[in-house]
Amino acid sequence: MSNLKPNTSLFRRKPIVPSEGNLKRVLGPIDLTTLGVGAIIGTGIFVLTGVAAAKYAGPGLVLSFLLAGLVCAFAALCYSEFASSVPASGSAYTYSYTTFGEIIAWILGWDLILEYGFASAAVASGWSGYFQSLIAGFGIHLPTALTSAFNPAKGTYFDITASAITLLIALLLTRGVKEATRANGVMVAIKLIVVLVFIAVGVFYVQPSNWTPFLPFGWGGVTAGAATVFFAYIGFDAVSTAAEEVKRPQRDLPIGIIASLAICTVLYIVVSLILTGIVPYNMLNVSDPVAFALQYIQMNGLAALISLGAITGITTVLLVMMYGQSRLLYSMSRDGLLSPVFSKISGKSQTPATGTWVASIVIAFFAGFIPLGSLAELTNIGTLFAFTVVSIGVIVLRRTQPDLKRGFRVPFVPVLPILSALGCVYLMLQLQALTWITFFIWLAIGLVVYFAYGRRHSLLNRG
Ligand code: ALA
Repeated sequence: MSNLKPNTSLFRRKPIVPSEGNLKRVLGPIDLTTLGVGAIIGTGIFVLTGVAAAKYAGPGLVLSFLLAGLVCAFAALCYSEFASSVPASGSAYTYSYTTFGEIIAWILGWDLILEYGFASAAVASGWSGYFQSLIAGFGIHLPTALTSAFNPAKGTYFDITASAITLLIALLLTRGVKEATRANGVMVAIKLIVVLVFIAVGVFYVQPSNWTPFLPFGWGGVTAGAATVFFAYIGFDAVSTAAEEVKRPQRDLPIGIIASLAICTVLYIVVSLILTGIVPYNMLNVSDPVAFALQYIQMNGLAALISLGAITGITTVLLVMMYGQSRLLYSMSRDGLLSPVFSKISGKSQTPATGTWVASIVIAFFAGFIPLGSLAELTNIGTLFAFTVVSIGVIVLRRTQPDLKRGFRVPFVPVLPILSALGCVYLMLQLQALTWITFFIWLAIGLVVYFAYGRRHSLLNRG
């Protein structure tokens, strides 16, 4: 018998290879923090805060942000250890391929396709809210049927703006990623300025009476709110996708991940306090709450500027999410688990253009058709699941590969990773039954695809 017989175990593992590409190592901790903030601040704070305050948490929204931030902080520490010991691009999918083996990596990769896909659609939907409010200021209105996702009772069928911006970003990404990311630093700066201006102006218009009752829907409202605004924190994991381009990944990745999360947490806490302090919480269920708050205090000009800044800021998130999606599909396809279409590099732009278009068209459809709330919930369940797996992964990797060099070590293992996993599951349990059902259906489809295709085409079959 040949000893080149392929390993057919469902748990066959990819060897840990620090760098798979020839990318230049140019990024330092400040670049990474900028990248993180660019990926994090977007639809979550600019849009979902409104729904979360009006429907769930009331002025207690600040507690929702604290709770979600705490869960993310634990998960971020676990992510950092993973990222500093397996510094290869592909994020949690690659990590789990080297630790848990193929089937778990597949499940996680398939889950992340859902996360990035729905996150992109949700972010596009938030973009659309601000864009429409901005053009409304100039008296331009789209036909009602095309203003929002499918909801015949309200006469809306398809959010044409959300769909269009998705395709526009796909065009940018397939033209070459350098061009697309060059403007990132500027856009991140604009986004931060917008948030700081809102804080600086808004603080003078806070009416403390708006903060009572503080918890109109009780603690249950706070936790449900946390499960929604968790969306606002998603993106810090994107920092780890740049691993192959970081000068000192083992030191700088944890710095980038933790610093960007810390900056955003502080901003979110202040913004949510001011927002609910300016406007009575029950009026916040609008598609552009931050601009709305300024209109509420008669600052229409500033509101328009803030809308413009929010649009710019949300665009960077969309770029990063859609880029992350295409890189994930690329990694999975390169490993043989998905069709080669997703790793086919097109000559001129040097990007996986065909795969990007296929994914983007699907995202554009969802962005137009499904309401923001549902898109965000699906994103959150997928992300929380990924965080849970990564947290457990830290404990497993400590046992299976105790001598692996780790640039960053999570303190108090296994207590902290266990708390992180429990926190994620707790937030998942706050999400609606329909979200869970959709999530399970998605995972089931994934298993069918794996056994029908991935398992047979995996590169690991080649011995
Ligand atoms: N955290 C990102 C946002 O809020 C996904 O848009």
